Amino acid sequence: MRAALPRVVVVTGASGAIGAALAEAYAAPGMCLALQGRDTERLEAAAARCRFLGAEVQVFAMDVRDAPGLRAWLEAFDTQHPVDLLIADAGVANVLEDVSQWETPLAVDNVITTNLMGTINTVLPIAERMRARGRGHVAMVSSLAAFRGMAISPAYCASKSALHSWGQAIRPLLGATGISLTMIYPGFVKSNMSDAFPASKPFLIEASQAARHIRRGLDARKATVIFPAVLWLGIKLLNALPDPWADALMAFLNLAPKGRN
Ligand SMILES: NC(=O)c1ccc[n+]([C@@H]2O[C@H](COP(=O)([O-])OP(=O)(O)OC[C@H]3O[C@@H](n4cnc5c(N)ncnc54)[C@H](OP(=O)(O)O)[C@@H]3O)[C@@H](O)[C@H]2O)c1
Repeated sequence: MRAALPRVVVVTGASGAIGAALAEAYAAPGMCLALQGRDTERLEAAAARCRFLGAEVQVFAMDVRDAPGLRAWLEAFDTQHPVDLLIADAGVANVLEDVSQWETPLAVDNVITTNLMGTINTVLPIAERMRARGRGHVAMVSSLAAFRGMAISPAYCASKSALHSWGQAIRPLLGATGISLTMIYPGFVKSNMSDAFPASKPFLIEASQAARHIRRGLDARKATVIFPAVLWLGIKLLNALPDPWADALMAFLNLAPKGRN
């Protein structure tokens, strides 16, 4: 039997490109959305578009690294409106433009804490509630970068790879209590984050296209949503090569920091 479509949806990172597009993809009369981000102006703009489309919207400006604050907000919202679908999308990237640069401990800490711990901080409180109810759907936005370390963004790749692993690990635990998990692995999507990526961005798509793709996968309760397929295939082929060859190919394709090879 096909699972019912969600009515109450939480989206973190809703002030960003993919999160805002996802929020809009769910906005409709009868829908109740909770949108989280930090930049209140962009968050309110996303909320206004969703309200215009007929959704009831609550907005929360909050840092996902603040685990107790996030838990308090999520639990209060879930008590009011039991969450059907949680989309943990918030994330940051740190990039190196050329090989003379090196990631600082502060930058690494920010990326790992936001992308890995911030996502876990988001999922744990709601998954606990969903487990008690015996229903619900959790989605986490990782990245195709989870599957191939790139010298342009070492901490980012590590954070998304760790998230991939955490998702794999909790899937059976969620599944045993009737909860679906969808892991999302986008390629390049137009956003402030990808605008700052200092190299080529093959098969770049708009956030609205990404959101449509993700929503289709979520509606079908897919375990994984990976796109674009051609880039996913490329990464698989790259990983079949010896690492020095793969590194050289990445540099040749302008997917490595400048100043090498
Ligand atoms: N764009 C791509 O090519 C691409 C590819 C693969 C995966 N992804 C993933 O997709 C997700 C969304 O990225 P995007 O492309 O839409 O980038 P974006 O436009 O920069 O949006 C990032 C979002 O994350 C929020 N965020 C960042 N740090 C946060 C923190 N500490 N606490 C709370 N919210 C925080 C931002 O909030 P504020 O701006 O309000 O601070 C913003 O809403 C990320 O997880 C990213 O890693 C993106």
